[in-house]
Amino acid sequence: MIPDTTNARAKTRIVVLISGSGSNLQAFIDARDNRQLDADLVAVISNRPEATGLERAARAGITSRVIDHQAYPQRLDFDRTLAAAVADYKPDLVILAGFMRILSAEFVDRFSGRMLNIHPSLLPKYPGLNTHQRALDAGDNEAGTTVHFVTSQLDGGPPIVQGAVPIISGDSAADIAARVLGVEHVIFPMAAQWYCEGRLSMQDGATLLDGEVLAPTGRTFEA
Ligand code: GAR
Repeated sequence: MIPDTTNARAKTRIVVLISGSGSNLQAFIDARDNRQLDADLVAVISNRPEATGLERAARAGITSRVIDHQAYPQRLDFDRTLAAAVADYKPDLVILAGFMRILSAEFVDRFSGRMLNIHPSLLPKYPGLNTHQRALDAGDNEAGTTVHFVTSQLDGGPPIVQGAVPIISGDSAADIAARVLGVEHVIFPMAAQWYCEGRLSMQDGATLLDGEVLAPTGRTFEA
């Protein structure tokens, strides 16, 4: 008998952009395999040919592509090539998982409302680079990470969920990064799953979750 699929909902198609180790990509692969993430990981795209995350994609049988930004002297040419490559896979959701290129407004607008980033700080603190060292230098007693919608403002789109970790006396930035990654691997697939379930959207520059406008720092994740 042919199953009646008239009302079957197609799975959310996710394209993941990476630049490096891809441990967050691995968290998405694991969440999919454990059925905590009801999505198809349709492609991984890296701007760096040597990104070890590409090996994670290969091991998981996910199609991958490299679009090396160094081959594009003009940022906009890189962005347009990348946008076309992403669009080829017809994604419902684009995940920036340690993707270390600033994207043009043209790129961001094309995927507006369906692109999530993870940034290793408790935004609005420390947008940009070297977040953990900056938290140490400021004498902070906690660090953390934020999943947020991507807008053309660098690390400035509306937050969805944040997770904090303590800074312990004697910590190096690398110690903090390792602790933060542990939280990222939980909250990033979790936020993506909210999107897959149709619970999450960006509206008028704010995050809407289950019909509720979230506070400017998003939901707080408690481990
Ligand atoms: C993660 O900690 C992520 O928050 C950060 O890069 C790391 C990537 O790790 N992203 C940014 O700094 C973006 N501005 P991964 O490659 O192992 O997932």
